[in-house]
Amino acid sequence: MEDRSAVIKVLLFLTFPLRPSSAVTHTLEYSYTMVTLGSNFTSVGLLDGEEFMYYDSNTANMTPNTEWIKKVESDSSYWEKETGSVKFQRDWLIDKLNQIKVTEGVNTLQRVYGCEIDDNGTTRGYDKSIYNGKDFISLDLNTGTWTAVDERAKNFTEDWNPAYNNAAFWKNFVNRTCVERLKSYIPHSTKKEPGGSDEQSDERKTAVTVVVVLLLVLVAAAVVGFVIYKTKLCAFLRSGYVAARQSAEQ
Ligand SMILES: *[C@@H]1O[C@H](CO)[C@@H](O)[C@H](O)[C@H]1NC(C)=O
Ligand SMILES: *[C@@H]1O[C@H](CO)[C@@H](O)[C@H](O)[C@H]1NC(C)=O
Ligand SMILES: *[C@@H]1O[C@H](CO)[C@@H](O)[C@H](O)[C@H]1NC(C)=O
Ligand SMILES: *[C@@H]1O[C@H](CO)[C@@H](O)[C@H](O)[C@H]1NC(C)=O
Repeated sequence: MEDRSAVIKVLLFLTFPLRPSSAVTHTLEYSYTMVTLGSNFTSVGLLDGEEFMYYDSNTANMTPNTEWIKKVESDSSYWEKETGSVKFQRDWLIDKLNQIKVTEGVNTLQRVYGCEIDDNGTTRGYDKSIYNGKDFISLDLNTGTWTAVDERAKNFTEDWNPAYNNAAFWKNFVNRTCVERLKSYIPHSTKKEPGGSDEQSDERKTAVTVVVVLLLVLVAAAVVGFVIYKTKLCAFLRSGYVAARQSAEQ
């Protein structure tokens, strides 16, 4: 009975997945960087910090640079839309940076936006612009409006409403579109669960070995027991037979 409950415990351990030891957060981020009025404009898409698409002043199109993104976004209309969008952003940012820049020389305007999914299912969106290394504008996801750090940034945001390019659009983008895309991209991430699935499978291999050894020991014990039992029985029967014959002969 005790042997059996030990076996059941090990089987339960094998059947139920082990919980990861700490949380994993996956991130999909889009980033635009413009240095000195568009003389060098770059845009990248990053999955867990790894680049999967790229655009710069010399590339005419948003370009996939991993095999998985080519498969997941296989429709050419996706790439046409991304290219159109990034060109619109670039022209608009150049125009605005021209208005707000305080010094000639090198000015850097960066915009990063995207979303995160924790392994408990919690999602977050974000969108912020950074001017010469300092936070400049951010998107308030509760109100769906831009938050500007100062008057200069305010001037920037007041104008940030032409066509589809407004706070409500971007709130919906980071909150929904981005989260849906991230869900379909996660299987292609190289970011692994902490405590690694490799470690987990090693634990499983050890457990399988323990079960096999335990079963072999049980089978061997049963065989040995049976042999001993049978030998003794034979001896007993034989001795009984001998005794019976002896008493019959007497
Ligand atoms: C533009 O920026 C990228 C990334 O920062 C850099 O690798 C590249 O050399 C720059 N190109 C020019 C023409 O400055
Ligand atoms: C989900 O996980 C994140 C990161 O570990 C944590 O900050 C957050 O509070 C968790 N949310 C819930 C609802 O458990
Ligand atoms: C979108 O943002 C709102 C406000 O922060 C939040 O309550 C909601 O859960 C978000 N939706 C998704 C799908 O993340
Ligand atoms: C806002 O931008 C306009 C247009 O460039 C400019 O005339 C105005 O002075 C700016 N206002 C502030 C407060 O920077």
